[in-house]
Amino acid sequence: MSALDAAMAVLLVVLLMAASVLAGALVVRRGRPHRDSRLLDPQGYLTPETLAAMERNLTGRLLGRYVLEGVLSTGGFGAIYRAIDLHRETRVCLKMPRLDRIQQEVQGGSSFGTFIMEAKLRAKLQGDHHIQIYDRGFLLVLLPGFQVKVPFYSMELFPGRNLGEIIREQGKLPLEWVHQIFLGVLQALKEAHLEGVIHHDLKPANILVELAPARRASDRGRPDRVLRVKLIDFGLAGKPGSGGTEPVRGTLGYIAPELFNGATPGPETDVFSLGVIFLEAMTGGRCQEAGDGRDGSSDWVSWVRGGRELAVPAAVPAPERDLVKRMVARDPRCRPTTNELLLRIRDRLHRSPGQ
Ligand SMILES: Nc1ncnc2c1ncn2[C@@H]1O[C@H](COP(=O)(O)OP(=O)(O)OP(=O)(O)O)[C@@H](O)[C@H]1O
Ligand SMILES: [Mg+2]
Repeated sequence: MSALDAAMAVLLVVLLMAASVLAGALVVRRGRPHRDSRLLDPQGYLTPETLAAMERNLTGRLLGRYVLEGVLSTGGFGAIYRAIDLHRETRVCLKMPRLDRIQQEVQGGSSFGTFIMEAKLRAKLQGDHHIQIYDRGFLLVLLPGFQVKVPFYSMELFPGRNLGEIIREQGKLPLEWVHQIFLGVLQALKEAHLEGVIHHDLKPANILVELAPARRASDRGRPDRVLRVKLIDFGLAGKPGSGGTEPVRGTLGYIAPELFNGATPGPETDVFSLGVIFLEAMTGGRCQEAGDGRDGSSDWVSWVRGGRELAVPAAVPAPERDLVKRMVARDPRCRPTTNELLLRIRDRLHRSPGQ
């Protein structure tokens, strides 16, 4: 071998060593041995699809004192897990930010602040129609390449389902159920309003209902009465805002129309949303102005711009029709207070049991 060949060979070895050190540095920084473009985005972070798949496969993972059993639901910001609490030796429901939101926080693009506020507020609301919060704080979550302290809270695992699922399955609900459900929600809402907190996101998916199976054999196990009602998801809740400059909070199809014109949110804007839910429970479907289904959002915006009152079908019994018309009135001053609603619904429930 000539001196030149030997020099070339040494150079090659040095280059190979440098390349492997660089590759090693990448692996260490990224924390994963192979780079796969379907799993990672150009910056080397996990893609939303990868994170969603990881979320679905968290079964059996231990986080603090919780063994995750599976995802119950994922929403705008949070993910809800069924979990075993090793400390309490019981099954619980655990809520924490979704994995992609956690990664966003690491990237500096998101904030856990709202979630921490939600946990704090829910721990404060302790009435019968609020879910009992057991524990809250931070859990250490390890994702490839980073670890992060993530806020969470654990709560009672409610055996029922949300009102949206119940309406989709049962259609129009018996009037007595509607009264019982709304009595519970109103009590929970009144408690929140007394704390100076507006819910901002009242909709069927944020109301949990436990139904009792029928006692009569002829009903073939179909549920026959409402056992318990809980108001959940204070993720958008807050003090009455200043309106105007704040973005409109809530879910299209339930947001009071004046909020689109910069009005200040208050108890009456929650009463409007509750009116829409009341209407849906009594008719068994989405109200006409919200469209039917996922693409209903643009219908709501055109209804807001159109200036008409919300249509209340004639099939709704007269006393409920009058009440719901006032709840969904465009003019917030015409809407009943939660106190008046509680009195009226209690009265209807006592007058017409078993309707
Ligand atoms: N304590 C609980 N027990 C049983 N199921 C629950 C409980 N809390 C929530 N769920 C289920 O999870 C769904 C979503 O819960 P929640 O509304 O709190 O969060 P989200 O809407 O997914 O999140 P976000 O705060 O981001 O909007 C509910 O509609 C309900 O079906
Ligand atoms: Mg929700």
